[in-house]
Amino acid sequence: MKMLNAAIIGGGAIHTCHVNALRQMPGVTLRALVDIDSERGLKLAMAYQCRFYQDYREMLLDGEIDVVHICTPHFEHKRMILAALAAGKQVFCEKPVGMNGGEIAEIALAAQNAPGLLGVCYQNRLNPTSQRIRRELAGGDHGRMLSIKAVLTWSRSEAYYTQSPWRGRFATEGGSLLINQAIHTLDLMQWFAGGVTRLKGVVDSGELADVTEAEDSAMATLHFTNGARGLFYASNCHTTDSPLLLEIHCENATLQLFDNALWRIKNGERIKLVSDASPNGAAKSYWGLGHQHAIGDFYAALTDPDKADYTDIREAGKSLTLVEAIYRSSQMRQWIEINQQ
Ligand SMILES: NC(=O)c1ccc[n+]([C@@H]2O[C@H](COP(=O)([O-])OP(=O)(O)OC[C@H]3O[C@@H](n4cnc5c(N)ncnc54)[C@H](O)[C@@H]3O)[C@@H](O)[C@H]2O)c1
Repeated sequence: MKMLNAAIIGGGAIHTCHVNALRQMPGVTLRALVDIDSERGLKLAMAYQCRFYQDYREMLLDGEIDVVHICTPHFEHKRMILAALAAGKQVFCEKPVGMNGGEIAEIALAAQNAPGLLGVCYQNRLNPTSQRIRRELAGGDHGRMLSIKAVLTWSRSEAYYTQSPWRGRFATEGGSLLINQAIHTLDLMQWFAGGVTRLKGVVDSGELADVTEAEDSAMATLHFTNGARGLFYASNCHTTDSPLLLEIHCENATLQLFDNALWRIKNGERIKLVSDASPNGAAKSYWGLGHQHAIGDFYAALTDPDKADYTDIREAGKSLTLVEAIYRSSQMRQWIEINQQ
């Protein structure tokens, strides 16, 4: 296997998931850490025994770097992706890949013409429960899908927004709850059902109204391409981070994601199919183990083009389309036509 050198841009909350994943991968070395905050960046680079850059454009001139991980605020994603692809790097970006459809189109064009690959981190697709749901649905035994219900209630404190002031603002985050936390849930819903044709949604602010400029709560009704209905509710105003509650009602069975485990209810029996707990029995870590799998799948594609099993720009754009549609629907108080395949 070819030896690969990685750089991470952004040494904030999520970057440790990338560091931990890279540490598990033979043949991959973390070569550089980039952060605009030089005190934080230098400290991290010393701990990881790698180079430090304050300016990502200088890192991109480093010919030893093969893969660039983007873990920065949302408004930085587009220009960093475009610059890294233009520099001939492979790029793995945290969600959301951009802040709106216009940015997605620009990034897609650049990715199409670049020698490097662009992967986006939707690690929840790799959870054992998500993978099993896809297999259960593909099996066809449960009959037609009738509806998907998803409830995401997490807790975000005032400090979460004040410590990283780009959060909660339209100009820098592109929204708040929907584009940052609930985008994973919307992605799973559309992925399980195979796309959305139309939706009607509402966003609002309650507990965090004085803290964030954008929404802290949202709900939506969705119509999926397969004819099923979707009910979605999300809020950052809970007092704890409850595991995602998701229920898929099919003609002959119901699949229930509850407390990080997947249950199948069929013929009066409720059977546990799989859990997202780690193999040593520990509870699911907060962001799950999916980063390791998502990053591993992207690197596998770099070394073997037949293993292109990662979330690309086309797939990453789907949940962002839903986020934008809910914002627009809430503003216009109308259904929004989408017609995803
Ligand atoms: N996949 C997931 O489940 C998940 C979870 C959390 C966050 N995220 C995503 O990760 C990204 C980062 O979020 P976070 O919570 O870690 O943010 P954060 O605010 O904790 O960290 C961002 C870091 O980027 C640095 N930075 C900002 N501008 C920079 C620039 N121009 N050059 C270099 N460094 C710069 C900041 O100094 C900071 O260290 C976002 O896209 C977010 O949505 C994904």
